[in-house]
Amino acid sequence: MATTTKPSYLGLLNAISLAESGAGVSLQAWANATPNDELADALRFVAARETSHGDVFCRRIKELGFDLLQKPDPGAAERLAKVANPKVSDLEKIGPDRDEGQDFFGGIEKQLDEGIFDPLTAKLMVWYIGEERDSGKVLNEAYDCVRSMSNGKSPSAAKAMAPTTPSADADAMMACMTAGFTRLEKALEKLAKAK
Ligand SMILES: [Fe+2]
Repeated sequence: MATTTKPSYLGLLNAISLAESGAGVSLQAWANATPNDELADALRFVAARETSHGDVFCRRIKELGFDLLQKPDPGAAERLAKVANPKVSDLEKIGPDRDEGQDFFGGIEKQLDEGIFDPLTAKLMVWYIGEERDSGKVLNEAYDCVRSMSNGKSPSAAKAMAPTTPSADADAMMACMTAGFTRLEKALEKLAKAK
């Protein structure tokens, strides 16, 4: 079952697993801290996916004959403490509106087109990217509600005002904007430079 040679994309699988597991913990902690039930639902919905992604990518690394490599993340405790703190507002946790951005999953899709992944990992990547973008939409909508409520609008008005077609890039960023995002971004940049 295990391959004898180390796949070029092993580092990417490792980075995704660590980032997703971290994001799952952060989003769950935030859900437990917020007084906003709708936001909590969205956060739990995405947290379950993130945790699952962390597990599945860890399993895929094992299936390929390797082990997940844990890496120190000095800022993790501070970020987690912030999202878990009910005294910090949801608005502050959401941070600034991030409309523009790079397509962080576009690079992986390019690699899919180039056929660099083994067949099962390729299918896993397609599923993962699909869920990440959908999660981005779920979070975007919940975040827009929080922003609009803070501007004095009702949640229903806020929902009606939520953009219906946010860009795929923004989706991807929103999906990973909590704890795991920075690590994933750095790992992808490093991989891009190494190529
Ligand atoms: Fe994610």
